[in-house]
Amino acid sequence: VHGELMTVHVGQCGNQLAQAFWKSMCEEHRIDERGQTTTERDFNDIKEMLFYQADDNHYVPRAVLVDLEPRVINGMMQSPTFSNLFNTDNIFLSDHGGGAGNNWANGYGQGREVQESIMDIIVREAENADNIEGVLFTHSVSGGTGSGTGSLILERLRECFPKKVIETYSVFANSEDSSTTDVVVHPYNWVLSMQRLIENPDHVVVLDNAALHRLAAGKFKTETPTFDHINSLVARIMSTSTAPYRFNSEIVPSIRYLSLAPFPPMHFIQAGISPVVDPNQKFTRKTSVADVTRFLLKPTSMMVSTASRVRPNDCMISAYMWLQGEIDPIQMIETEHNIDAMIRRPPFYMTSPLQVINAPLSPYVKPQYKVSGLLLNNSTSVAPLFEDLLGKYDKLRSKRAFLDRFEKEDHFSLEMMDEAVHSVQDLLDEYKAVVQKDYLTRGVPH
Ligand code: GTP
Ligand code: MG
Repeated sequence: VHGELMTVHVGQCGNQLAQAFWKSMCEEHRIDERGQTTTERDFNDIKEMLFYQADDNHYVPRAVLVDLEPRVINGMMQSPTFSNLFNTDNIFLSDHGGGAGNNWANGYGQGREVQESIMDIIVREAENADNIEGVLFTHSVSGGTGSGTGSLILERLRECFPKKVIETYSVFANSEDSSTTDVVVHPYNWVLSMQRLIENPDHVVVLDNAALHRLAAGKFKTETPTFDHINSLVARIMSTSTAPYRFNSEIVPSIRYLSLAPFPPMHFIQAGISPVVDPNQKFTRKTSVADVTRFLLKPTSMMVSTASRVRPNDCMISAYMWLQGEIDPIQMIETEHNIDAMIRRPPFYMTSPLQVINAPLSPYVKPQYKVSGLLLNNSTSVAPLFEDLLGKYDKLRSKRAFLDRFEKEDHFSLEMMDEAVHSVQDLLDEYKAVVQKDYLTRGVPH
């Protein structure tokens, strides 16, 4: 197999996303909780894209789990679903087990101390594969470990794998939630993480917990969706977008062929899925290509809360839509035409039109919907989220609120924060420039 993927999960959020993702990968590739497969292998099933074989009938996720506190990973290791699945050599837990206390500077500093052990695991896992093409990375940018240690790992990943596709799934704190349970210093952690997200990955899928909660509300049996619920939505992005590589579709042979970010560093991607329903529902929904497409093209369907604040000049830099299910070729062509008509208002298109991919389904899982879809949209409409967060950062910083917590960390200085703010401001300038008509003719790389 050529072009395998591996995953790296950091911190509580990162590892909880790992559970949602790998649970669905095991179902889609018919691998049980001991890594064994019971049925005859379907011709199209490329298990090796994400799993490696320890022996003849024993598959292991190509995943690396990192945390500075043991609770989430130990919980996984004690759960029937995961206790015999992961390679325990691929787990990094810190010796003291105290976490990073919602502090980027602490997570980054601890990351520096232990980086060689973590990178040894990642590099060994990559070298065990034929030819890793991409790394999927999950974390939150608002706490201490996923954001701080995660930032350091991203810097090292880019350095070790200059040519591989690095795609992060980065969870942003729910900043509409004023309850004290979420992280007060999240704007500091965010801005420091942003610089590393601007500099290192190829794509960053922006997952805004405020939008995820709003999308999930009322769609599950409970009115107040839990992390398990919203993480199942994120797992669907990861699962649908990788389905063509995992199930032998010739249309998109590898993650490298997606041209989602033609103008780096504008590589911050919004995602939407349709339909949003409880994965435990057992009946099949009679959705149509038209319903799914229409829903995905609504700004309120994006997992970014500010996307619905539509500004007249916003433009799509690049976008891909995956459709799965009962779709005939004529419908595919019609859909492409319809989408074209729906979004062609100048200056909506920058480079190429929205690409529609007919993605294969797992041969082992009965689909819950007649048609389902995913949109990954690289649009300038992500910028207001960054502007809001920068505003929140300025408020804290001008009062010097909680700064002492950061300043007391080794390896940290306020200049690092200032530098991070500059890099976010540069990015925002780029988003402003791209909506100007002459952007393409000003010598920007194509
Ligand atoms: P420390 O615990 O501070 O060392 O860092 P950490 O990386 O473990 O922190 P965590 O991942 O808990 O980050 C906190 C942020 O992530 C908050 O904004 C939480 O709302 C969010 N978060 C935590 N767990 C999850 C999860 O499973 N799913 C989602 N979507 N968000 C989560
Ligand atoms: Mg934690």
